[in-house]
Amino acid sequence: MTGPTSPQEIAKYAAARQAATYVEGGMKVGLGTGSTAAWLVRRLGERVRDEGLQIVGVPTSSSTAALAREVGVPVATLDEARWLDLTIDGADECDAELNLIKGGGGALLQEKIVATASDRMIVIADATKRVEKLGAFPLPVEVVGFGMNTTKMLLEEMLEGLDVMGNKAVPRMKDGTLFRTDEGNHILDLHLGRIGNARQLALILNQVPGVVENGLFIDICDVIVIGHGDGTVETR
Ligand code: 5RP
Repeated sequence: MTGPTSPQEIAKYAAARQAATYVEGGMKVGLGTGSTAAWLVRRLGERVRDEGLQIVGVPTSSSTAALAREVGVPVATLDEARWLDLTIDGADECDAELNLIKGGGGALLQEKIVATASDRMIVIADATKRVEKLGAFPLPVEVVGFGMNTTKMLLEEMLEGLDVMGNKAVPRMKDGTLFRTDEGNHILDLHLGRIGNARQLALILNQVPGVVENGLFIDICDVIVIGHGDGTVETR
């Protein structure tokens, strides 16, 4: 396995390795998505191989499932596992109350379902993800394809009345076409600048027909492990 090279990757790697120490034999573990979570999955693969660690991983995306299989972490679906001891996942932003923006990798729906079905959620991130107020990172919202332009218009209108700085909903693209999630839906990235009341926004967004789920994780994360470019970590 090639190690991390840039300071940001070293930070992600350090956070992932630290979080991997929370995983004990016999656990059912939710496996997050993204570059930080990928370090965790690789580390768990090492522990399975070197220590004979016995776990079942529940991946939050097809890409994480493929990586877990590649590095030898046994996987199950959430319906097979039913309830998990722990989920470890990355984040795009995290505030002081451990509320998150997630979905930069487009896996927010499965990530939220898996984290909610876990006794504990640990977030792993480099220090750039820690923010005072959520919202600089565009908030991903998963929407169904039917009537997507109408859903976008309704979201933008609704946002005008809320405590946010911007209201643009931008369809996420990949390779020149609309991005598709593992569930076959699309993503609207909401350019809000700053979210005044994340708890309220998380509830309101899901009232709009066509919205499947939003990337605000409120009261779901229990612990955050922050990595730094010098390889040190801090846990909150
Ligand atoms: C994927 C996510 C990721 O956890 C988030 O985008 C962070 O990614 P990375 O670890 O690559 O910075 O929410 O949907």
